[in-house]
Amino acid sequence: MNTDHQQQIQKAAQLIGSAKCAVALTGSGISVESGIPPFRGAGGLWEKMDPMEVAHIDSFRRDPARVWELLIRDLKECLDRARPNPAHLALARLEAMGILKGVITQNVDGLHQAAGNRDVIEFHGTFAWQRCMDCQRRLETHRVELDQIPPRCECGGILRPDCVFFGEMIPPEHLHRSRQLSERCDVMLVVGTSAVVQPAAFMPVIAKQCGATVIEINPESTPLTANISDLLVKGPAGQVFTGIMAAMADYTVR
Ligand code: APR
Repeated sequence: MNTDHQQQIQKAAQLIGSAKCAVALTGSGISVESGIPPFRGAGGLWEKMDPMEVAHIDSFRRDPARVWELLIRDLKECLDRARPNPAHLALARLEAMGILKGVITQNVDGLHQAAGNRDVIEFHGTFAWQRCMDCQRRLETHRVELDQIPPRCECGGILRPDCVFFGEMIPPEHLHRSRQLSERCDVMLVVGTSAVVQPAAFMPVIAKQCGATVIEINPESTPLTANISDLLVKGPAGQVFTGIMAAMADYTVR
């Protein structure tokens, strides 16, 4: 590990270690080391298929079977296999230490909760549940049989993942709580997001405007890097958090 990178890890550990109220905003990048592909960039899902064709509510309404076939079935298999990686576990540890006061995630994979985080805002909903388009009944995804596509509810209605498709609103309670956490935090960790999808990408801007220190963890720079982030620790989140937690352990011993 080169010195620059080591220094960034040390700086991040210091900033996080002295935070009174840290909050994390996470994206698909944090789950890449758990075997879930990102949406954009190399190996991204949207490199292979048009998101407006497979992840927009109008395309789902138009042809639910096609969306189930093209996107949801594979995603289900991938999510069923995925387990939390060191980045998810570090955020759960920071919550247990009383440093992290909440996770705002764009991910629908449930890995933050599986790692032990209690306060998680699923900004784009969740894949752990399916919802009936007719009677709105919710069903746990692992109980849904895929012998019929699209799968149906007892009432005969079509089941859809309980996540936010493009063209749909963010649940107002999630928006409100995320804004509150962003206004209140003194450190915001922005982990594994390309920061191009609104309104999630605006949360670090709110945090910055309210005086927080913004730390990005990502192998690439993003639209936040130049003017919003105070520090970009370049690298895969699992590896970076392993370094940060080790450095924090050093500090507390001293
Ligand atoms: N660790 C950290 N970051 C990573 C890693 C890794 N191992 N691998 C890739 N990344 C970074 C990429 O450099 C990129 O900046 O993660 C980011 C992933 O960006 P996107 O795929 O655009 O994911 P995200 O920002 O979560 O997308 C936002 O768009 O498609 C919609 O609803 C979907 O919630 C999603 C939203």
